Parts: sequence; C-alpha cells; structure tokens
Amino acid sequence: MPSQAPVIEETRNPDTPYYRLGGAPVFEAICNRFYDLMDEDPQYAELRAMHAEDLGPMREALPRFLAGWAGGPRDWFEAVPGRCMMSVHKPFAINRAVADQWADAMTRAVSDVAPEPADMAKAMGEVLGNLARGMGR
Ligand code: HEM
Repeated sequence: MPSQAPVIEETRNPDTPYYRLGGAPVFEAICNRFYDLMDEDPQYAELRAMHAEDLGPMREALPRFLAGWAGGPRDWFEAVPGRCMMSVHKPFAINRAVADQWADAMTRAVSDVAPEPADMAKAMGEVLGNLARGMGR
C-alpha cells in the first residue's frame, strides 16, 4: 500500500474573535498601543512601574497570549506547559487601582486600533477589562 501524506488539520477557524478582528497584525497593534499608553500616559504610572524597564518582551508576549486566548495560534501556551494567568501574575500584588489602569488602557487600545467589527471590538474590550478588574484586590 502506498504511504499516505499526513493529514494536516485545518486549525484556522475564521469564526473566532482572533480571526474576526484581523489576526496577528491586529493583536500586535493592540498590544503596542496598550504598552505605548502605559508608557506615556501618567494615569498609568503605577501600572507602568510594576513592569520591567524594557517593555519589548511584553510587546512580544501579550499578543501571543491573547492570540491563544481568542481562538488563534496557541504557541504561548504550548511553549511552557502549565503556564497560565495565575502563575505569571503570582509575583505581583495587584490592587484595584492598577487593575483598573490595565482595564482602562486595554479598552482604549482596542477601540483605538481595532474598532471593527464594532460588536467584536466592544466585546473584546469589555471582556479583557473585566478579566483585569477581577484580578485586583
Ligand atoms: C490586572 C492588572 C494587571 C497587572 C498589574 C499586570 C502586571 C503584569 C506584570 C508586572 C507582568 C510582568 C511584566 C514584566 O516583567 O515586565 C505581567 C505579565 C503578563 N501579563 Fe499581566 N497584568 C495585569 C493583567 C493582565 C491581563 C488581564 C492579562 C491578559 C489578558 C495579562 C497578561 C500577561 C501575560 C501574558 C504576561 C506574561 C508574559 C510572559 O511572560 O510571557 N496581564 N503582567
């Protein structure tokens, strides 16, 4: 019997927030806008101070995290098995004020950079905002 080529599973599901919002370039643009706001707007100073001086690694990591979270490629999750939101934030004391700063900057970044489709952009900003606020105590 002739050997068969392996079946390559189609994993690009267009009906996910990741692909509906525009995939990698849009997620990178959202995160770059998010870290620009964090870096430049004094209302996010407390949040900025918790991060490393070089935001370059986070500009790489956050869009990859959000990609997997929103139904796209899962390489951030696969790179370190078991890594999750709880484990990466364990070292940080996240209070209400910084959680609100994260939520506010992300909602702004999404509406600045990815306003279409409007229902998806609104949902994405709201869900991420709620996720961040849920981490504050
Ligand atoms: C609630 C307020 C939040 C605060 C104060 C916060 C703070 C931080 C800090 C200080 C780091 C380490 C960054 C560095 O070393 O420069 C980090 C890492 C990270 N944060 Fe947050 N974060 C918050 C919410 C979120 C949310 C809601 C998400 C995702 C939806 C998120 C995703 C990530 C990821 C993926 C990393 C790790 C990246 C990596 O190591 O690959 N964070 N966060």
